[in-house]
Amino acid sequence: MNRRTFLRVASRLVAALWGASFLWGWLRYLTPREGLTWGRMWTPVLDLDELPVGEARQVNIGERPVLLIRVKPDAVVALSAVCTHRRCGVVWNRDQEALTCPCHGGRFALSGQVLAGPPPSPLRRYAVHLQNGKIFLSGGPG
Ligand code: FES
Repeated sequence: MNRRTFLRVASRLVAALWGASFLWGWLRYLTPREGLTWGRMWTPVLDLDELPVGEARQVNIGERPVLLIRVKPDAVVALSAVCTHRRCGVVWNRDQEALTCPCHGGRFALSGQVLAGPPPSPLRRYAVHLQNGKIFLSGGPG
């Protein structure tokens, strides 16, 4: 095998390994898996039946309070339940379809964006996956 052939084979092998690892990472990210580490995989947090449409429920993922809001029968939004101003707890206001902070009047949209008040930044939004009647969260962006 001459040098040119060796380099061609080696570069194809490296490209194939890189492609396989990229594909493997995406498959692991897209496939819900129970009981694995928060922030890296999907974590089951609540049965869908426990969250009526239009209602919200707070769950704690480790130290992080997260507010789940069921906006449609088949859609749940997950946002940090901690205000970005002075870390008060935010609550879901169904009539306004917004999250409000009782401490200084901050208001947030369902996207997490600030609508009013002093909060300097949006609420963190979590990725949600519904499967087999369960709500799964991921630490990644939603
Ligand atoms: S702590 Fe939420 S608006 Fe100030």
